[in-house]
Amino acid sequence: MQSNFKLPFSEFETKRLLLIKYSARFAHDSFLLYNDEEVMKWAGPDTHKSIDDTLLFIKSVTEASADGKIIFWAVQLKENNKVIGDISLQPDNKHKFASAGTFLSKEYWQKGIMTEAMQPVLWFAFNKLELNRIEAQIYLEHIASIKLYQKLGFKKEGILRQNFLINGTFKNSIMYSLLKKECKLINNWKELKSI
Ligand SMILES: CC(C)(COP(=O)(O)OP(=O)(O)OC[C@H]1O[C@@H](n2cnc3c(N)ncnc32)[C@H](O)[C@@H]1OP(=O)(O)O)[C@@H](O)C(=O)NCCC(=O)NCCS
Repeated sequence: MQSNFKLPFSEFETKRLLLIKYSARFAHDSFLLYNDEEVMKWAGPDTHKSIDDTLLFIKSVTEASADGKIIFWAVQLKENNKVIGDISLQPDNKHKFASAGTFLSKEYWQKGIMTEAMQPVLWFAFNKLELNRIEAQIYLEHIASIKLYQKLGFKKEGILRQNFLINGTFKNSIMYSLLKKECKLINNWKELKSI
């Protein structure tokens, strides 16, 4: 059942990217992302086996967004209009923090795309959602994700014991977090519209 609680949402433009509202029209690109075993190796959700899995996923994300449980951006590459990734924030409005999630098509890894995309997202989280803390739980061996959050200024807090179930095995993860007062952003983006 949907509540009346509505989170703010803004779309953004950076040098190479648009961060826009997710929708079923991105199902094809989104399927290519979520169907890739390498992209999904360290991730929570299961790999999508068919476009129907992706459509169901988009439906659940859309409903959760309408219900104020998640904020979800499609990351679109301006040069070819492809949706190459996504970013989510799951806010806890009582305690003023959110968990961040990032997915990027492997063709675009290590080109600074997520560092670029996360700048307006962090600004939005701290200024529009008025959060105090963003956190990311990362599997211990997931170097790419650890490096990304370190680059964004997140600090390592500690180990969470066996809180990830990966391929049937419980694994430890690391908690990283960034506080509003620590956040230093590069202003390489603009807000397009606030919805
Ligand atoms: C994690 C992920 C989003 C990183 O995105 P990205 O756009 O490649 O990251 P960036 O290019 O902005 O890199 C940020 C920093 O991390 C480093 N980095 C990224 N991937 C790396 C890797 N595989 N090995 C070592 N360093 C890496 C970059 O070199 C950069 O640091 P630097 O500028 O000091 O050199 C991407 O690898 C991904 O989508 N992985 C699969 C999905 C996933 O696991 N998501 C997280 C679920 S917890």
